[in-house]
Amino acid sequence: MSQDRIAFFDTTLRDGEQSPGCSMTHHEKLELAHSLAGLGVDILEAGFAIASDGDFAAITAIAEEVREPKIASLARARREDIERAAKAVERAARPRIHVFLASSDIHLEYKLKIGREEALEQAAEMVALARSYVDDVEFSPEDATRTDREFLCQFVGAAIAAGATTINLPDTVGYATPEDYADMFRSVRENVPGADRVILSTHCHNDLGLAVANTLAAIRAGARQVECTINGIGERAGNAALEEIAAALRVRADAYPYAHNLKLEKLYPVSRQLTERISFGPAPNKAVVGGNAFAHEAGIHQHGVLSNPLTYEIMTPASVGVPTNRMVLGKHSGRHALRSRLHELGYRLSAADLDIAYRAFTELADRKKAIYDLDLINLVAHHQRHEDLISAEPVAGSELAS
Ligand code: KIV
Ligand code: ZN
Repeated sequence: MSQDRIAFFDTTLRDGEQSPGCSMTHHEKLELAHSLAGLGVDILEAGFAIASDGDFAAITAIAEEVREPKIASLARARREDIERAAKAVERAARPRIHVFLASSDIHLEYKLKIGREEALEQAAEMVALARSYVDDVEFSPEDATRTDREFLCQFVGAAIAAGATTINLPDTVGYATPEDYADMFRSVRENVPGADRVILSTHCHNDLGLAVANTLAAIRAGARQVECTINGIGERAGNAALEEIAAALRVRADAYPYAHNLKLEKLYPVSRQLTERISFGPAPNKAVVGGNAFAHEAGIHQHGVLSNPLTYEIMTPASVGVPTNRMVLGKHSGRHALRSRLHELGYRLSAADLDIAYRAFTELADRKKAIYDLDLINLVAHHQRHEDLISAEPVAGSELAS
């Protein structure tokens, strides 16, 4: 792969789906996999084949049906996991097995109860086994960011010598800062024989809110694959959010001049699709896909945006697929239309509150030809500030709540 291209590795269906509130049915996983392919992800981690029969069946079906991206299954560095993963991806156009084994002393001692030497041997043996099934093997030293650096380099070197084609350096517990995450990539590139022959990959968790920043720092330090999830779902505080990385690469192409395959205008639709299938959506103030990401409430901001969106918007909503300028209502619209649009926007109003909102709406509609979503959001916000709309709470899963 060209050094100037970033591959997007989506793990919404694996690291994302395994986290609380995010499980999906077989059918939902397949639908989302098709959408992720349409979005342009390069590698789709479809599940953890040995984890359950459901995961195995979903990976198998995705491997058969979704042909554009590489399809990966996760596997622990164990024979039975690798055999199961190999079986699950065998019908894929381009199968990948993703083998992981912890490398930090704390994981080796308390979780695996093995020493460094044994871990080294196991990693090499299992990567070689995975290579006997597929040409494309990714290896992850779990908890890489808390692993002794010299041992990490040895560990990664052993996996490369055994045939790994991608080396992923996960910040499993979201511990790293951008400086030390980038430094780890530089150490591996400088000190591990064969590191120049493999793709280095990022995998960041968001426990300190740094997952995307760490990902970008690693790209600067030579990573050319980024692992991420839609809406940033994932274990605990989540994984690096795909849409945020993609938007950063677009908006700050001056600092990150890398090509990639994503169609950014599909970001929001895919984010919505995921939200509709799991039990929560992104916070309203979530970057790129949150309900308020392109809402302007302050008068000064609104005025600026109306004269020139670039005054307060660093990307257009349309560029990431957020629908805009939906001229939903006008002075001829009735109470019912208002209630249903407010509901779509996330506000469920009592009959009394709807009366207040409708009066304000008709006054506005008299002055203004077209009432946009933003006008309605501002109208509700204004009345909430003055405490006369008490029940206008964003509805979970609505456009605003998500
Ligand atoms: O966070 C992590 O370390 C993982 C690995 C399995 C790559 O998800
Ligand atoms: Zn993870």
